[in-house]
Amino acid sequence: MLGNFSYCNPTRLYFGEDSLNYLHDELSKYGPTVMLCYGSGSIKKNGIYDQVMDILKASGKTVVEDAGVMPNPTVEKLYEGCRLAKENNVDFILAVGGGSVCDYAKAVSVSVYCEEDPWEKYYLKMEDVSCKIVPVGCVLTMVGTGSEMNGGAVITNHSQKRKIGHVFGDQVFPKFAILNPRYTFTLPKYQMVAGFYDIFNHITEQYFSGEDDSTSDYIAEGLMRSLVHSSRIAVKNPEDYEARSNIMWTATWALNTLIAQGKSTDWMVHMIGQSIGAYTDATHGMTLAAVSLPYYRHICPYGLKKFCRFAVNVWNVDAAGKTEEEVAAEGLSRMESWMKEIGLVMNITQLGVREEMLEGIADGTFIMQGGYHVLTHDEIVEILKESM
Ligand code: NZQ
Ligand code: ZN
Repeated sequence: MLGNFSYCNPTRLYFGEDSLNYLHDELSKYGPTVMLCYGSGSIKKNGIYDQVMDILKASGKTVVEDAGVMPNPTVEKLYEGCRLAKENNVDFILAVGGGSVCDYAKAVSVSVYCEEDPWEKYYLKMEDVSCKIVPVGCVLTMVGTGSEMNGGAVITNHSQKRKIGHVFGDQVFPKFAILNPRYTFTLPKYQMVAGFYDIFNHITEQYFSGEDDSTSDYIAEGLMRSLVHSSRIAVKNPEDYEARSNIMWTATWALNTLIAQGKSTDWMVHMIGQSIGAYTDATHGMTLAAVSLPYYRHICPYGLKKFCRFAVNVWNVDAAGKTEEEVAAEGLSRMESWMKEIGLVMNITQLGVREEMLEGIADGTFIMQGGYHVLTHDEIVEILKESM
């Protein structure tokens, strides 16, 4: 393990079919006014809204409803949430939904009392929080982002064509997260598999960096193997509790800072995917799936040893009698077969990207330094062309 680090994750998790039973006790730790954030209505159809409302009422809370958090939450919605939270002097924000609702709740939590424009401060200038933070809790209904146990909050600004994530510190992590795998059963298949790939890519973004013998990489390989195994079961039978529960747990550990310890980390697939999202508003996990193989094939020569290790340890490639290039390529082909098998979108044309957008998407892509190769603008355009 390289580097020096300290590790603490402040989010308390409640996992399993009975996990909502703990909501009452958690709410009792906070003041009387709770802002309930949710999306466009799935929680009303599947009954989660009624269950949560019953607990809020039984806990004597005054509930301020903030509905309509869209997938890829916008800066306009963020401003609206801040106004609502401030007018009602809310003590706590309860997010019930997927990554978008959790991210949004965190963004509101640091913006209600922010004296500057939060988009400018947190997303353009990347400054830290310097105001009072409203505490957040989550009831998760969609698996993928890891937002339930991390400090990330991604916001989209359509007029500026930018989708940007700010990774806040410990004080912004949810105070608790309730993870009931059964809540994910009603997800449409498209969202379910997009979430599976989001998880996988969170792991590879952290795995493809560094060359030392790192425990973080062994944990990452275990998480990837578990995800691939369970995803194959879940696409055939979305109501297989064992598979869905393993995937839910894997998603949380894929992006709660654990496997990044001692590593530089890459994140270029996410940077390109987010810029595509700013132009198309496409589903997050699908933007990642559509650019991953061209990106990984492009950087493979720079991190050849790790791509071989990936092939052998994650995809069971038999390396005997093969060159390193052959082993690495076979690993990526097996990954491609799995991606097609579970039904991911494999090109950006299907997500609404057109040739004339490519330069702008490349301009809007943050270039990170921690992977095996630092991309140039032209290389990003080339990868996007290969992803069409
Ligand atoms: O609007 P509702 O009714 O909630 O419907 C949602 C939405 O349409 C639906 N859904 C969620 N749970 C459901 C359900 N439908 C039926 N049954 C259920 N149980 O699914 C759709 C997608 O939900 P969303 O929350 O948008 O998906 P996801 O969890 O993938 O979140 C995506 C957002 O998270 C950001 C992404 O950029 C994107 O903005 N990310 C956040 C990260 C973080 N905090 O660390 C990291 C990620 O890389 C990602 O960037
Ligand atoms: Zn992601």
